[in-house]
Amino acid sequence: MNRVYIKTYGCQMNERDSDAVAAMLRNRGYRIVSDEAECDIMLLNTCSVRDAAEQKAIGKAGHVGKRRRKQPDLVIGILGCMAQNRGAELLDSLPDVDLIVGTQKFHQVPDYLDNIRAARDAGVPLGESIVDIDEEEDSQNTIRDHLETETAQISAFVSIQQGCNMDCHFCIVPKTRGDERSRPMEDIVAECRNLAAKGVREITLLGQIVTSYGRRDYVHTNGVSPFVQLIEKVHEIDGIERIRFTSPHPRGFKQDLVEAYGRLPKLCEYVHLPMQSGSNRILKAMNRPYSRERYREIVDALRTVRPDMYFSTDIIVGFPGESDEDFEQTRQLFEACNYDMAYIFKYSIRSGTVAADLGDQISEEVKEHRNQVLLEILRKNSGARNESLVGTVQEVLVEGPDKKGLHFTGRTRGNRVAIFDADPRLVGHFVPMHVDRATVSSLYGSLVLSGVEN
Ligand code: SAH
Ligand code: F3S
Repeated sequence: MNRVYIKTYGCQMNERDSDAVAAMLRNRGYRIVSDEAECDIMLLNTCSVRDAAEQKAIGKAGHVGKRRRKQPDLVIGILGCMAQNRGAELLDSLPDVDLIVGTQKFHQVPDYLDNIRAARDAGVPLGESIVDIDEEEDSQNTIRDHLETETAQISAFVSIQQGCNMDCHFCIVPKTRGDERSRPMEDIVAECRNLAAKGVREITLLGQIVTSYGRRDYVHTNGVSPFVQLIEKVHEIDGIERIRFTSPHPRGFKQDLVEAYGRLPKLCEYVHLPMQSGSNRILKAMNRPYSRERYREIVDALRTVRPDMYFSTDIIVGFPGESDEDFEQTRQLFEACNYDMAYIFKYSIRSGTVAADLGDQISEEVKEHRNQVLLEILRKNSGARNESLVGTVQEVLVEGPDKKGLHFTGRTRGNRVAIFDADPRLVGHFVPMHVDRATVSSLYGSLVLSGVEN
């Protein structure tokens, strides 16, 4: 009765949290299963950023609730952002849920499950569901070294910070993830060292606004921000060959970070730089503290330091009041920045945010149209970038077999997915790959094996 299935919705932070919960549960003797039909405990780690994400998880929980008729002992838990955002109110529509645990209480999940199971084993009726969405002092430190590497892990996410205080007017994250808190630098570096010793070669530093890392806890030294100091420290670790981070904020791209791309070779030439809108009027209404001109300046500065820089972004189309003219500004800036990847979202009302109370909501039809316009530009630009790589040799980090087990996959430094044939012994190695052909999303190639040690 200890088989747990965890389903994760949303961002990489949620993936990271689910991995940590899984590791804690394994340490307690639970088994993590990959087939949901075989579980005794179903945990949904949820996302609240858009309504669609919440509806998906609610639909799933309702569906799983029905399974209880056939499997009365099934335990159902809702974790993470939607648990935090909606709390006990979820029980009104989902009475079968046993456990609701917010974003600062993941580390309590094993205890709660132990209690629920002990009560069941003793034949005690459960009674009330458990709801814990309180704040936790120092919760940025409760989730960390719990990751264990069952299968050799090559690329790892390391949480450096939790929460966000930016108050972008569309965004629910400050409510679901709480105040911005940074982990101590030495803890993060120790975790990275530990991961490197276990074979990890690539680290992605994770947080809601990583460029603000440590701003309350550390000082700038010689004009270098605490975030860049952290990157420098991770850069010194033997074995770690690639460093990435997500998500930064444009306001964090000062000279020190731009220059870091010129002097720190392990820092991959791939930047996720959320634009949200290319209209100064809308950026202001969103409470995003930069202009389209400043945004463009950052992109140009980064391309000057690294001409081969890859860019991705987040865009919201259909923010309240977004006129055709505003969207045209976004379209132009989007085209000019020549993104390799972009996450384009249709604005979704999040109750409790400032934008939820604005009038002038945009129709679904218009949002959909604007979405398609940007997707088409993305397809064109991303396709052209991949096409330009055909015939070149790119360094790939070999991650493992693809889903079908026919080929191997890896990523280039520019975060392009690469597909090739390889020997299992090459997993975890950096190998040059000749790009034979390309699609919009992937590069297909052959490894150049001369000179590579096995
Ligand atoms: N700093 C965070 C942002 C979290 S939200 C990060 O780690 O990425 C991720 C993206 O979702 C935002 O950049 C924004 O583009 C989009 N988003 C946030 N709130 C939204 C809303 N109400 N409607 C549509 N998209 C939204
Ligand atoms: Fe959300 Fe803005 Fe923070 S998008 S996570 S409030 S930087």
